[in-house]
Amino acid sequence: MIKQIKQLLKQKNAVLVAHYYVSGELQTLAEETGGLVSDSLEMARFGQNCDADTIIVAGVKFMGETAKILSPEKTVLVLDNNATCSLDEECPIEEFSKFCDQHPDRKIVVYANTSAAVKARADWVVTSGSALKVVKHLHEQGEKILWAPDKHLGHYVQNETDADMLLWQGACVVHEAFKADGLAALKVKHPEACVLVHPESPQAVVDLADVVGSTTALINAVKNRDEQTFIVATDNGIFHKMHEVAPNKTLIEAPTMGEGADCESCAHCEWMAMNSLEKLLSVLQTGENEIKIDENITQQAQYSIQKLLDFTEK
Ligand code: 13P
Ligand code: SF4
Repeated sequence: MIKQIKQLLKQKNAVLVAHYYVSGELQTLAEETGGLVSDSLEMARFGQNCDADTIIVAGVKFMGETAKILSPEKTVLVLDNNATCSLDEECPIEEFSKFCDQHPDRKIVVYANTSAAVKARADWVVTSGSALKVVKHLHEQGEKILWAPDKHLGHYVQNETDADMLLWQGACVVHEAFKADGLAALKVKHPEACVLVHPESPQAVVDLADVVGSTTALINAVKNRDEQTFIVATDNGIFHKMHEVAPNKTLIEAPTMGEGADCESCAHCEWMAMNSLEKLLSVLQTGENEIKIDENITQQAQYSIQKLLDFTEK
């Protein structure tokens, strides 16, 4: 199957762009075939800069849509049309637009984990790797902010920057499941460990972190820091790359069990898990699951995403 996929990627001048949360085999294949494995910010940048005719996104829908918005002339395919994101689902454009209309005095800053229509309504699009920098900049300009959809990331950014932020109340089902009491107990068992937390996690979990950052920032921490042991509070798909960059270090999953836990996700995103080699082969053979976005929405969303790419290049 891998051989067939490699041939088809070449034949169709297609490139595979994968997120750190998809399976290790898809990540390896992306890198072996000249594609990319990264966080959502760099996935967006890579898709725009590559000279492939077709971008295949192994991740979730908003990542495919971002790639298409930035490269409307390219064909963008996703492996499963149903691979969505709870943050995207919890921020429907009709309600969000009303919320924005009620607060015309605020700059609208949305997380990349949103639909193309929500991005089109925004002044700025940010990712976990860029949110602090953008909000700090806006705060310095004296701007008040309307933030959506992730309330946890919003709280984190608000605490760090002191900006005036009005928060939409969405959450990531995976990161929301991390439990501060369980993590505190694990820290007692491993006092030498460095605690890495993705900022989509609840504030009480973030408060226990040594490092808070995007998926790329957390991987770099495992690679570059002196500690031997790391407790990791993000989707466990990330362990593939962490083991690769630091094979001798010990990685421990942060607990999703504890008081009030239902382990809905058990630290793995069910939508990221919909990506597979079989589906990759199938989309390459059939061209199915092509992302299509209304032209007006593309133009408006492109403006706010491009602003982010230019800003983070500085
Ligand atoms: P990153 O931009 O940090 O890769 O995060 C994307 C995401 O969906 C995390 O849940
Ligand atoms: Fe969305 Fe959370 Fe899945 Fe990331 S891990 S795609 S934020 S549901």
